[in-house]
Amino acid sequence: EFGDPEQGKAVFGQCSFCHKIGQGAQDGIGPHLNGIFGRRAGAHEGFKYSEDMSMMGADGLTWNLETLNAYLENPKALVSRTRMNFAGLEEEQDRADILAYLRQFSAS
Ligand code: HEM
Repeated sequence: EFGDPEQGKAVFGQCSFCHKIGQGAQDGIGPHLNGIFGRRAGAHEGFKYSEDMSMMGADGLTWNLETLNAYLENPKALVSRTRMNFAGLEEEQDRADILAYLRQFSAS
């Protein structure tokens, strides 16, 4: 089930210290999140990922609704030594909403 991108924009407030998104977004503490859907994990050129994230990507982890939902619920459950220092979004609705928001910045 898909969420509400407007609500997701508000939830993104929990991410925006580390991640930018939208026109002109640059990497910061975390990589910018334009085009994240369909992208290999840890594959954004020029960003220094954790070893675990790079390995997961090399082993085939690709970001889609399912994998993003799992990572955002509990980052360390999916990528055990991820450098993303974020506890996770506990509420299923928050995750659905933020995925709908992020989806707007990925082509087609
Ligand atoms: C990685 C999303 C919160 C720092 C990632 C990735 C996604 C993501 C999708 C993987 C990127 C890729 O493979 O190219 C989000 C969302 C957040 C959030 C939606 C809020 C709900 C945060 C916060 C921080 C942060 C608060 C900083 C305290 C990072 C870092 C990475 C990362 C450093 C790279 C992880 C690694 O190399 O292991 N984030 N993030 N993120 N994020 Fe976040």
